[in-house]
Amino acid sequence: MELPFAELYKIKMVETIKKSTREQRDQWLAEAYNNVFNLRSEYVFIDLLTDSGTGAMSDKQWSQMMIGDESYAGASSYINMKKIIKALFGFNDFLPTHQGRAAENVLFSVLVKQGNVIPGNSHFDTTKGHIEFRKATAIDCTIDEAFDTTIYHPFKGNLDVTKLKAVYENYPTAQVPMVIITVTNNTSGGQPVSMQNIKEVAELSRKHGVKVVLDSARFAENAYFIKKREEGFADKSIKEIVKEMYSYADAMTMSSKKDAIVNMGGFIGFKERELYEKASVYNIMFEGFVTYGGMSGRDMNALCQGLDEGTEFDYLDTRIRQVEYLADKLLDHGVPILQPTGGHAIFIDAKKFFPEIAKEEYIAQTLVVELYLEGGIRAVEVGTLLADRDPETRENRYPALELVRLAIPRRVYTNSHMDYIAAAVCNVYDRRNTIKKGLTIKKEASIMRHFTVELERL
Ligand code: F0G
Repeated sequence: MELPFAELYKIKMVETIKKSTREQRDQWLAEAYNNVFNLRSEYVFIDLLTDSGTGAMSDKQWSQMMIGDESYAGASSYINMKKIIKALFGFNDFLPTHQGRAAENVLFSVLVKQGNVIPGNSHFDTTKGHIEFRKATAIDCTIDEAFDTTIYHPFKGNLDVTKLKAVYENYPTAQVPMVIITVTNNTSGGQPVSMQNIKEVAELSRKHGVKVVLDSARFAENAYFIKKREEGFADKSIKEIVKEMYSYADAMTMSSKKDAIVNMGGFIGFKERELYEKASVYNIMFEGFVTYGGMSGRDMNALCQGLDEGTEFDYLDTRIRQVEYLADKLLDHGVPILQPTGGHAIFIDAKKFFPEIAKEEYIAQTLVVELYLEGGIRAVEVGTLLADRDPETRENRYPALELVRLAIPRRVYTNSHMDYIAAAVCNVYDRRNTIKKGLTIKKEASIMRHFTVELERL
């Protein structure tokens, strides 16, 4: 018999989770105004809200925490970070920040001015938020294939170079400070960007004097897909692939809560000393001194270890194969999910799941509500709520896709949990024809509303 796949780790510490009844969940969800961000985590059985900051650290990461250096300036933990960032990404300079959006805040304080346009591949919501907050515009140049959930394309995160060219031709260079390549492209489904595409975008941008910034939350998962799917990379290590990806970049913003497998942390990497120096001023104002920037020494140490482990093939293979395991179960049952499967999550196509619910009734959020009621599973909406209102017209922006993301935390759940999730999703799918009405908004914030929005069931 061929030996089956098995996780390349064993579990050393466990945390109890509790099941609940349908009646309890009905009540808790009503108290949360149908917004799962408002639920207490103890009311959730399997938490797929995000893969951000929810991973399980390794024994080696925990041991690194014990030897963190908490000096205000020049801590050895900072030096450790400097060394690994140089080794992995090739950047001489970096600034620690408390998380990814803080890195965006600091870097964009230097680069983004009112009236600027920033092309990219489906900018993440905080990225777009930081751009729009500065009265600049994010322009989505993702390839069209990304918006059809059924087309197989190995690199659905790619930017369309023709769309990007049009941006560079239509706007004066002074108005376009940077292009942001998000690896992997979270918003369009955790889809990777090919090395070829990174290279082409960088070459074109350089010609137009535009900086290339990699939004790097899931850079290692992106490198895994390059190894698996792109010609010429099968024999390269993940670390070699990462090094090449970043050879095309001028800077990176990093949310370390994903591929560095820590609960909190981030940083900015810089190719140019000048940009680092300008950003340092903002880092000191918003985050902390340049050698800790909102992180404690122990956290920086765990982050370094996480960056090293997170760029090992065996770890990534275990991780991404678990996501595939769940995806295959859903596909076998006919559940419409985005294909190919992304790195960190399964994305359910809510418009196909609930074809009868009107787009004004928040289709994807309706499915989020149903999954919680069915099995105590907390997923997240990546649809109209997340897309927010147009800052000018204040009208809802209806994105091409209404998705529900089942984000899989790293090294946290077993495949029995995956079986449970699959059963719950399939049960809702089997009764989908009984759900014809969605939700309406009762209260919302003016920016990034999805975190705090209050909804009512129709
Ligand atoms: N960029 C991407 C691609 C992200 O996915 C995130 C966060 C950020 C930037 C911001 O980083 O949370 O550390 O401030 N994504 C989380 C998610 C929240 O659930 O996908 P942060």
